[in-house]
Amino acid sequence: MMQMNQYLNHQLSQVKPSAILAFSMFANKIENVVKFTLGEPDFNTPEHIKQAAITSIQDNHSHYAPSNGTQPLRQAASNFLAKKYDQHYAPEEIIVTAGATEGIYTAVMSVLNPGDKVIIPTPTFPLYIADTILAGGQPILVDTSSNNFKLSPQMLKQAIQDAGSGVRLVILNYPSNPTGVTYTQKELDGLAAVLKDQPIFVLCDEIYSELNYDGPHASLSKSLHEQVILVTGVSKSHAMTGWRIGLLCAPQAITDELSKIHQFTITSAATVTQDAAAEALQNGQDDAIPMRQQYQKRRDYIVEQMSQMGFDCATPSGAFYIFAHIPSDLDQDDDRFAHDLATNGQVAAVPGSYFGPGGAGYLRFSYATSMEEIQRGMQLMQTYVQKQRQK
Ligand SMILES: Cc1ncc(COP(=O)(O)O)c(C=O)c1O
Repeated sequence: MMQMNQYLNHQLSQVKPSAILAFSMFANKIENVVKFTLGEPDFNTPEHIKQAAITSIQDNHSHYAPSNGTQPLRQAASNFLAKKYDQHYAPEEIIVTAGATEGIYTAVMSVLNPGDKVIIPTPTFPLYIADTILAGGQPILVDTSSNNFKLSPQMLKQAIQDAGSGVRLVILNYPSNPTGVTYTQKELDGLAAVLKDQPIFVLCDEIYSELNYDGPHASLSKSLHEQVILVTGVSKSHAMTGWRIGLLCAPQAITDELSKIHQFTITSAATVTQDAAAEALQNGQDDAIPMRQQYQKRRDYIVEQMSQMGFDCATPSGAFYIFAHIPSDLDQDDDRFAHDLATNGQVAAVPGSYFGPGGAGYLRFSYATSMEEIQRGMQLMQTYVQKQRQK
């Protein structure tokens, strides 16, 4: 029998299946396990947004939307970005995508030619690496663990220099999944100074922009507007992961080109969910505040508990993740530690090494789960850690 799989696109064989998903499935099988593995809000979508979707269905908005998105949503997104973050994109410079995920795919596919190099600071959300490989690009992973998980101008300069030639894209994500770390405007301006007037794009994934706890959300789009492709959306800000609405923003000469990949990949995002997202961005500009307050309480609690157990955490200023270093008197192999903790301690946290160089020896805890579950998890964790220390 012919082995037809060997005739598929060769890039596919270089993309690894998601280790995070596999770990999550492994954890699901453990009875009464507390899951700190989830990457999505545990809140429900606000009521006024659901009502907008119901009205949209009743009004028979069941036809294709314009490929780049409905005018009310693109206008609402333009207003939202300007008012909230001083980011200026006209509606024509915004493409409505099927979640931030499709925005990232569209941007990476549009920018890269085969062999182009992409600088990705790590630990990182693994999707960027997969998309880079699928586009025939070459990921250049830059370990940021020595700098509190932030790419410094010096590290960036060095990475560009080491790459020789062919760097076409840098991918930044702030606040970050998996570390929760974010950048100040001054830090981003420092990166902008390195990149200015070089033929290098920067894909800024700002999907967690509404979840900043320690200061305002900063953006590279302010200091490097011409070179930045901004990805954001309503998944995390309005607890709308399942609605699949993202936003892809760039100067119009760029979006005109990006829209070709978008159009020939998905035609358009769903019309009903675009109506719901328009309501979210127009009339729910502060919907994230009560969620943010809850997340912040959980973050403070979990950081305090973990510190008492001897786990150092990177400063988690945003998103809903804590990246905790396993204390030196416990097993430093994060993969083995996480599997044992789940099996024998009933606490599931993702091994840090799954997020690339710099993640080994860490665990990622998501606090997008109820305070009761977090408290139960921390108690179980204490019991487990104590037992390990008595061995
Ligand atoms: C950094 C980051 N970017 C993008 C996404 C995907 O967002 P969406 O659900 O809007 O596709 C996630 C989801 O976890 C994420 O953590």
